[in-house]
Amino acid sequence: MKKSLFPDKKAFAELQEAAESIASRKFNQMGYPFDQDTGFSGFYRWLADTGLCDITLINVGDPYKKNWDMLNTDKFERFCIDFMADACGFEGNHWGVLSNGGTDGNMHGIYFGRKALAAKSPLPPILYVSEEAHYSVKKLGDIQNIETRIVGAKEMGSIDAEDLERKLDPSRPALVAVAVGGTFKGAIDSLAEIDLAIESRKPVAVYRHLDAALFGGYLPFMDDPAAKSIIDAKGGRAFDSIAISGHKFLGLNEPAGIFICSKDTLSCVHENPVAYLNGVIPTISCSRSGFDALKLYWHLSVLGRNGLKKQAEHSLKMARYLQAKLKEKGVRAWRNDFSNTVFFERPGDEVVSKYALACNEYPVFGKLAHVVAMQYFTEEIADAFAADAARR
Ligand SMILES: Cc1ncc(COP(=O)(O)O)c(C=O)c1O
Repeated sequence: MKKSLFPDKKAFAELQEAAESIASRKFNQMGYPFDQDTGFSGFYRWLADTGLCDITLINVGDPYKKNWDMLNTDKFERFCIDFMADACGFEGNHWGVLSNGGTDGNMHGIYFGRKALAAKSPLPPILYVSEEAHYSVKKLGDIQNIETRIVGAKEMGSIDAEDLERKLDPSRPALVAVAVGGTFKGAIDSLAEIDLAIESRKPVAVYRHLDAALFGGYLPFMDDPAAKSIIDAKGGRAFDSIAISGHKFLGLNEPAGIFICSKDTLSCVHENPVAYLNGVIPTISCSRSGFDALKLYWHLSVLGRNGLKKQAEHSLKMARYLQAKLKEKGVRAWRNDFSNTVFFERPGDEVVSKYALACNEYPVFGKLAHVVAMQYFTEEIADAFAADAARR
């Protein structure tokens, strides 16, 4: 067996230096929705102890496939998908895959949506997406060559359903991308308002894909029925598919995600038999990390629903605390309901750079920056940040 490989002294010293620098700044990455306290050292020790870290592990195609001999972690991938599908109210009527990230999940949502709509109408669909939704949705409309209509947004960032109603073409199938947590202001598009626009215009066929990159990791675990029902295929409003990031609230430390759709949707996609892969391949990319499935399984097993609920409560509490602290210091700050994203007057460049803040500009608000209160947030972190932001 190959013994453990190490880079030469010079390369190792460079890696060491980078590691120390990154580790010392981990809690200063406030503009981005990453869990900077993932607690995965136990997992990595286990990978080393078992020797799995020296093995290549790739999952391909459908994680629910049977009779597959290549080394894989499909079983753990299925657990993660079923866990999240259950939390999102699919009641077993689902299929899914661990995606390569939020964009890949949206890629599947738009592709599967096209296929599902094509089963209902021969006319090409139109993709409707809010101007404040993540740019990936608009880009994917372009990549998949779908006519895309950008719908206006309200001041606080959610979709303007009246504009959607105006733009909906009843003669063509509608593929509606719903932002459950806009990237910058953390606004949730109202499915109830979207449904009213749809009922009023009655397009020939409709597919609803939720882009819940960040919020999909916590809303389903909250006790508050108003929060939980936002993503609830059983008790809330109907939707066809959802993309959730793995490396946002779900705590993975590298890009990954979960795509889930209804079984009806999957049945429209099954037309791609690949003989050497022993079956039908609904996924777009063939290979994905088998380690992601192990890591997410580890994480979900440690936390369970209750652990995620506690993390959600903590993050939202910290977001409320940060908003209050900023206001107390004279910084105008806003936050949407159920959002752990606080946006506020853009501080000076030094503060922006110190905390890796994401910035934007809007006609109504002017120059803004935002902070996403993640699991690692404490009152001390928020206090220090508010004091710096107030200096401007
Ligand atoms: C709402 C939303 N959707 C999609 C994405 C894209 O996710 P990824 O970077 O994993 O491709 C993001 C990333 O920030 C996002 O905020």
